[in-house]
Amino acid sequence: MLVVLKKDYDEVSREAGRIVASAVRSKPDIVLGLATGSTPLGLYQELIALYHAGSLDFSRATSFNLDEYLGLPPSHPQSFHYFMEQNLFSKVNLPRDRAHVPDGTIRGDYDEYCARYEQSIQAAGGIDLQILGIGRNGHIGFNEPTSSLASRTRLKALTRETIEDNRHVFVNESEMPKCAITMGIGTILDSKRVLILASGRSKAAAVAKAIEGPITSSVSASALQMHADVTFIIDEEAAYSLTQRDYYRHVLEMTQLFTPERLS
Ligand code: PGA
Repeated sequence: MLVVLKKDYDEVSREAGRIVASAVRSKPDIVLGLATGSTPLGLYQELIALYHAGSLDFSRATSFNLDEYLGLPPSHPQSFHYFMEQNLFSKVNLPRDRAHVPDGTIRGDYDEYCARYEQSIQAAGGIDLQILGIGRNGHIGFNEPTSSLASRTRLKALTRETIEDNRHVFVNESEMPKCAITMGIGTILDSKRVLILASGRSKAAAVAKAIEGPITSSVSASALQMHADVTFIIDEEAAYSLTQRDYYRHVLEMTQLFTPERLS
């Protein structure tokens, strides 16, 4: 794993923006895995700025979002469809018919729907670059603690912690969904490259467990230790509980010197 330590959220966003932009330029028909939440907002703003400056083109790209709340239609302001529309899709030239977000309005036949989502990822050639945030409980996507490390896209019940973390954004708090459709950990591990971002002290424990702890279904992000090409970009606050920070800086220097393509 490459661990890139940055000063603050803005630096995390800029570095992530640089890496994603470079990946899109080197493979214009890239398949991106996209995330919602407060963490990737700065990255999306970077991408939008580059697009407006004429130095980034998404016209041949495809995207698959990690997850969506069960029961929320795309028009619901707290749905992840709405989030993506507001914060990225309406502001860049990614073709809408190739911007996939799981459908939160499906009723019944969940397994069949989820299998089809997996098939569309396969049909697009697989995810080239997956962007992730991390939950305070170590979740990636909505793969809550104890999710199978081999899990695929499926219906997942949310933990009380996740429900509490997100309840405040709902005008009527009782509207907060209890379940979601999410890509599985196995789905995420199949992507060719993973970029995971974290900012703030509230993420420090989860980040330390994910990078330096044992691989365990209790911390879904720890499964990334089994992936061959993962880059964590984290700010000082989120890096607070890591014990090997000097080593990560040394690894980064050596990477810049000998294999800079891993950072482009
Ligand atoms: P956040 O969510 O980016 O809003 O902190 C991350 C997550 O729960 O995956």
